[in-house]
This record gives sequence, structure tokens and C-alpha cells, in this order.
Amino acid sequence: MTCTVSIRAADPSTLTTPLLLVPVTAAGRLPDSLAALDAAMSGALAAVWNSGDFGGKVDESALVHGAGSIARVLLLGLGDAAKVDAGGLRRAAMAGGKRARTIGVATAAFVVPTSPVEAGRAGQALAEGLPYGAWYYGALKRPVDPPKPELASVELIVAAADPAFEAGVARGSAIAAGQALTRDLQVLPADTCTPAFLAERAGEIASRHGMALTVLDRAALEQEGMHAILAVGQGSANEPRFIVLEHRGGGSEAPVVLVGKGVTFDAGGISIKPAAGMEEMKYDMSGAAAVLGTMEAVGRLGLARNVIGLVPSAENMVSGTAYRPGDVVRSHHGKTIEVLNTDAEGRLLLADALSWARRYEPAAVVDCATLTGAVVIGLGHSASAVMGTEPGLIEALIAAGETAGERLWQLPLWDDYRELIKSDIADVKNTGGRPAGSITAGWFLREFAETLPWAHIDIAGTAYTDRERATHVKGPTGVLVRLFSEFLLARG
Ligand code: BES
Ligand code: MN
Ligand code: ZN
Repeated sequence: MTCTVSIRAADPSTLTTPLLLVPVTAAGRLPDSLAALDAAMSGALAAVWNSGDFGGKVDESALVHGAGSIARVLLLGLGDAAKVDAGGLRRAAMAGGKRARTIGVATAAFVVPTSPVEAGRAGQALAEGLPYGAWYYGALKRPVDPPKPELASVELIVAAADPAFEAGVARGSAIAAGQALTRDLQVLPADTCTPAFLAERAGEIASRHGMALTVLDRAALEQEGMHAILAVGQGSANEPRFIVLEHRGGGSEAPVVLVGKGVTFDAGGISIKPAAGMEEMKYDMSGAAAVLGTMEAVGRLGLARNVIGLVPSAENMVSGTAYRPGDVVRSHHGKTIEVLNTDAEGRLLLADALSWARRYEPAAVVDCATLTGAVVIGLGHSASAVMGTEPGLIEALIAAGETAGERLWQLPLWDDYRELIKSDIADVKNTGGRPAGSITAGWFLREFAETLPWAHIDIAGTAYTDRERATHVKGPTGVLVRLFSEFLLARG
């Protein structure tokens, strides 16, 4: 269940609510705008302010209990008034949503602050942020007694109705639903989230939004010659799938194709990974989840564009039927791949999907994947890496990322790096060794994207987090749903 966000024009001091979220900019004393609310709270807000416990700094918050119809006020710091932007509003909304969820209220109200942010952008940021902060996965735990309610809805309290703000909230809500879908898929363990399971979830998205769905199973993959996907999946009892979701909202225009790596568990195969931290590899389908969540957002937005989601999905396991180092695989494209390391499996899946994408004569192809450990070394958890063949496309993705608060940093695909994936016996080999590991992975993909207007995003460092934040719980981040949505919306 995603928390729904609605709008109400009201004076905050007159509300009846279990929790009122009040974002405020940094100031030395209680802002005048909060005087009526402070009176309704019997002066408790001024008291917190005067105590010095709270001053409105970014990520600062203070919970104040009331005796009247407002049971609690949570003050949320927005920082310096001159620097408040849509990202700051989103961040405060996330922090508020998270606290509302941990306190255990089913509903809350959020006072929309006056800010220089354009109304549509503000509404969108708040509608994205509140459900994002409230997201939590508890389905596999025993329910607590008495059960804590989920945060089901939040009212945005505004001074007066504004159509631009309303349109922004509608956009943000669609994107938030996509993000929640992505995180729900990411968090599921690999015993549940198999390639077939992803295909079923894609089927639900398709029927909700009238999209076309094609799922290739093992036999169909054989028929189509998608031997790279088959090779990765051949060691697992959970057979591979290739999922194709088509949203046709743009008539005869060339589509945007989004491709997401869907490795439901990456044990590394015969080139097995170390035991420590291997459980994190349930997240190796985060690219697939981002694409499916974006398709959900696209459906809800009713986007007047053609968007195609491709998800090559397999489980990379160790068994007597698993593919081996040294094997040579004939890809869908026709190029042969020498497998030097079975743990470089994501690029094999993506190679077949990129080759498949050619049939659409797409305007742009963007793939995303938890592809390399090297990107975590290079950029940490603060940005995803982007690279590709089309400068304008990369620029548009970077700009969408800035707007979305999901940063990208470009890595070069210079010809020098091509040397590193030359194979002695096949057309290409699947690893270039440790140096420039994220770039050689990108170059491998380029061999299959060829002349397509293509970009690749490596989200190995951004798809999940092992640290609890003010804005979100530890675990899946749903990264790229906001970025892809902004990217698609900006195309007009
Ligand atoms: N799924 C991993 C990459 C990964 C690492 C994702 C850390 C998230 C966090 C990928 O399939 C992989 O194993 N890559 C190898 C490639 C190497 C064998 C060339 C890597 O990065 O070590
Ligand atoms: Mn791997
Ligand atoms: Zn992997």
C-alpha cells in the first residue's frame, strides 16, 4: 500500500490531526507565520524554539505534543530560506513521512511552506517525498501487538487552491507509486522474486495500464537465439525470462526503450562470490525493478509517448548445469562472447536485450544495471555512473537526475578501453580485468548497442543502502524511477 497524498485549503491551526508536519526555514526565533499554530499548541512551539533544541537546519526535527485537536507537531528543518529548492522540499517531506510511519499514525497533515519553488515543482516534490519516507517493508515480520498502522494518507495543507500545485501533486503521486513498486520488488528475497515472478508483476502493470506484454520463457529464448540470457540462467532451477512491456501513448513516434538488468540472485556462478555480503545480491534485479516501476509511473501519468521496458531476467547460480569460465556463447546479436568470469553476468543479459531493442528503431535506449563493484569504488553511494554513445542523451539524463535528486556522473568510453575486452578466440570477452571495470563493462555493452542512440547507467552503488537515514530506511532506494520519469516528462 502506498500512502496517498491529497490537498486541502485550510488554516493549519484549526486542524484536527494526530500529526501535523511543519517544515520551517532556519531562523533565530519562531517564524511569525507559526504564531496562530503556536497559540493552538499553547505556546509549545515557541518553547521548543527558545530552548535551542531546534533551529530549522536541514534534517533537524523536533516533535512537540499538544493537548488540543492537534495531537502532535513535528517541526522539520528546511535550512537557509534563500536556498530552499524542490530537492529541499522533497527531503523534508521524506523525513516527515518517515517519522509519521515510525510514530505509527495512519494519517497526517503537512503544512505546505511558502517558498520560491514553482508551485507544480513543489507539489510534485512533496507528493514524491512523503510516501517515499513512509515506505517500509514489514510483511515477513510477525505483526506487533497492538499492530502499528501504516501511514495511509497525508493531506497537504495550503492557503488557497492552485491548479499548478494540484497537477504537480498528481505527477508526484504517480511517480511515488512507481518508486514504491520498485522498492517492493527490490526488497523481496530471491526465493520469492524469481524471473517468473518479475514477469507476473509486469503482467499486472500491463493489465492495469493497457500495455502490451510479451514474455519469452526458456523455449522462446532458444527460438529467438538469446543464448547469452540462457547461458546465465542455465545453472538455476528458476528459469530465465525476457520481459517486454510496451506503452503506446505516442502514436507512430520512435519509442524510448528502457532496459533493466534482472538478476534475481547473483551468486557469481562458478566464479562464485565470497560468502560475506552475498545476501545483498538479491538486489541484483534493481535495474529491472527501476524499469518496471517507471512503467508503472508512465501508466499512471498517462504519458503521451511511446515507452518500451525490456527486462532480461535470470538467476546466476552454481550447479552442474551452470555455464563455465571459458565457455563461448553466441549472442542474439550474432557476436560470440568468451566467458572469462561467470560473475560478469549482467552484461550478458543486457547484450541480448540491447540487440533485441534494435527492432524498434528507437529514439533512445537507456539500460540500467547493478553492473560493477568498481562503480562503488569510484563514486561511492552518492551518484550513479552514466556513459554512452549519444552526448545529447547523456546530457538529458544528467539534467533529469539533477531535477530528480538522483545524481549521475559521466565516465568516458574512449577507444583505448576497447582493447581490454578483445578475446583470443571469440568476438569479445566478458571482462577486461580490474582497471576501469565500470568502463570496460560499458564498452562490452556498446559492442551490442552499436549504432543505437544509447546510454548505460550503473546503479551498483545507489540501488540500496546499508545505512538508516533521516529520509529513508535502510534497504532498497528505488533509484532511477524519479530520474527516468523526469527524463520522459521533459521530452514533452
Ligand atoms: N552484480 C555484480 C555487481 C555488484 C557489485 C552489484 C556490488 C552491487 C554491489 C556484478 O554482476 C558483478 O559481479 N560484477 C563483477 C564483474 C567482474 C567479475 C568483472 C564485479 O564488479 O566484481
Ligand atoms: Mn556478478
Ligand atoms: Zn550481477
